[in-house]
Amino acid sequence: MRLDRFLSNFPDFSRLDARLLLAAGRIRVDGRPVLDGRFEIREFHRVELDERLLQAGKPARYFMLYKPSSHVSATEHPEHPTVLDLLDEPDKHELHLGGRLDLTTTGLLLITNDGHWSRRLTLPGSKQPKVYHVETEQPIGTEYVETFARGLYFAFEDLTTLPAQLEILDTHSARLTLHEGRYHQVKRMFGHFRNRVVRLHRESIGPLKLDPHMTPGDYRSLTEAEVACF
Ligand code: URA
Repeated sequence: MRLDRFLSNFPDFSRLDARLLLAAGRIRVDGRPVLDGRFEIREFHRVELDERLLQAGKPARYFMLYKPSSHVSATEHPEHPTVLDLLDEPDKHELHLGGRLDLTTTGLLLITNDGHWSRRLTLPGSKQPKVYHVETEQPIGTEYVETFARGLYFAFEDLTTLPAQLEILDTHSARLTLHEGRYHQVKRMFGHFRNRVVRLHRESIGPLKLDPHMTPGDYRSLTEAEVACF
């Protein structure tokens, strides 16, 4: 953005004020006076009026990542590479995850620097459906469908899970839709039937599907329409 535009966007400066401040040499960019309003400022420029810092607002950033099973859903980890290591972006310390997946779980993960947006995704009341593709060690029984739809009691949290929809795809695989995100929820639900989950993959969160062109470890920015889903 041009420096004069940047200045006149501040509610306390008119366009004339901005021009006068520039002409008087009172505006500094990265410590140097800049007199020319056409100067292009970038996100990381430090703009000052006398001793006052006029920081440019950091643009919001939103990414979808295809989490591979090798990377942990965390911003730092002592043992494993983190999903942030997969991003070639500046200022990664400003980013956080909109929800988590277990280490070996693959699929859709959202990453942003917009705390309001990620809170809308992750708040327990938000009830954004999350769809998982599940593969199990033992055959999946038809009785699972009703049990998951009724809800399962989790003694540790003293709660009953919200009704979840199970679509059995074949003997050892299914698609499960959850409307909440409890700790290890999918594994614990199948664990109720002593059936170990051997592969777990998140396909979608709300209306947002993992981009079919992506492979594990890929990421891309969300489109405006995708950001507006939440
Ligand atoms: N449920 C699980 O058990 N693990 C995940 O990673 C996500 C949901």
